Amino acid sequence: MYPILYNPASALQLLPEDRFREIETDLNAARDEMRKDIQILKSGSTAPEPKQPLDAGFIELPRKLLSEFDNDRETSLLGRIQSKAESLRDEIDRFVILGIGGSYMGARALFEALCHPYHNELDRNARNEVPKIYFEGNNLDDRSMTALLELLTAKTSDRSSPDDRWGMTVISKSGGTIETAVAFRILREAMADYYGADSADLRKLIVPITGPSGKLRTLSECVGYEDLFEIPDHVGGRFSIFTPVGLFPAAMFGLNVEKLLTGAQEMTERFFNAPMGENPVVDYVATCHLLEEKCSIDIRVLSTWGTKLESVGFWYDQLLSESLGKQERGAMPVTVVNTRDLHSRGQQHQQGKRDKLITNLIVEETSEKIAIPNRSADTDIDELNWLAGRTVHDLQKAAIAGTNRAYREDTRPIADIRLPKLNEHALGQFFQMMMLATVLEGRLLGINPYGQPGVEAYKHNMIEELQQTEKKKGQP
Ligand code: PA5
Repeated sequence: MYPILYNPASALQLLPEDRFREIETDLNAARDEMRKDIQILKSGSTAPEPKQPLDAGFIELPRKLLSEFDNDRETSLLGRIQSKAESLRDEIDRFVILGIGGSYMGARALFEALCHPYHNELDRNARNEVPKIYFEGNNLDDRSMTALLELLTAKTSDRSSPDDRWGMTVISKSGGTIETAVAFRILREAMADYYGADSADLRKLIVPITGPSGKLRTLSECVGYEDLFEIPDHVGGRFSIFTPVGLFPAAMFGLNVEKLLTGAQEMTERFFNAPMGENPVVDYVATCHLLEEKCSIDIRVLSTWGTKLESVGFWYDQLLSESLGKQERGAMPVTVVNTRDLHSRGQQHQQGKRDKLITNLIVEETSEKIAIPNRSADTDIDELNWLAGRTVHDLQKAAIAGTNRAYREDTRPIADIRLPKLNEHALGQFFQMMMLATVLEGRLLGINPYGQPGVEAYKHNMIEELQQTEKKKGQP
């Protein structure tokens, strides 16, 4: 079933012959620890202090959701997500997704990777009735918020026509993240102005996705929104793409969420069962870890081939940096989009410090067949006729081969992750591969990959700053 491939052969040339054997035992132990983590959650017992928080719930989630869907169809979580998305798509023409960090990056990655690059420019028919999609609540940026409000309220006169209606989902596990909460309040106000403060429309067109408790949960229960999707305990933000956090937006985009989950489930199975050398998760961690340990290569460049993969890279940037950037350790992730960034960062990657592992993220097959047109000899002024008939994809393949060769010739370490196609099944595998790899590496290093205590410092200071300005305002 079209497995994605990981090939670190070129990177491994920097290491001795028996490179993997050296850490095989440690990696097996780290993988066993992950098995034990699952057991701790299953047993309902409290995780030992250094393991808290223990957010290993993501590992078995795809399998659980699929089997629940097989048994209970429309009453299962997946069934409810799909039917809510279907009905909402029919009702509205613009859909806003509020969320930040792990409550944002996955949905954005799915949208950019799998939807039409100019989705919002298409008419409704060409969009397959999928509403225009907007992301907010992922920053404190008054210009973008004002612009979005202008857009949303520009065409609101006939409340009964889907063309004039908009809805939103607000995603926050804690329910207290300031960026998302503030955006929600502002947009809720705008919606209330249009649909009426206590209207049934509001309760139908706003879909909260949140944890079992918190301010958003309380607010949602108070208002009585028709549907609320819960983010389960023991699944952390950046590991939550296969909860309603990623699945509901994906269903809104018209994507096949079952295939996404199937890909993820298959990757989990490979991780726990395939031997080293044939196991993308274990091999990826072994390669990254050994290069860091033996060659001080601690910058991990995810070299994505195609603009559609940029947000997939940003999703991984967050995953790696928030999970392992602790105790003054953790490799540095960098996303590049090629060939675009060969014209910016490429120079440094080819001749700069030898501190980078370049992992290519490559899509093997594309359905687009745009080719270079032929011109008569007298109008071949740009001298591109020698390429006539070749597709843009052919050029990209040559660029990948050429870039890899240039790095190899200078003994720069590279590895490839190959997605057979850019679709739900392949991305499901990829997201799960990277989440499992991040946790495996954390367990190997003795760093708890879950939680992000470092992020609290800015939040605390920001609240303090706001409180101080409030106090000053009150002074004569
Ligand atoms: O990975 C994480 O846990 C974080 O990036 C969170 O997703 C982010 O801070 C948003 O949190 P919340 O969903 O509680 O609003």
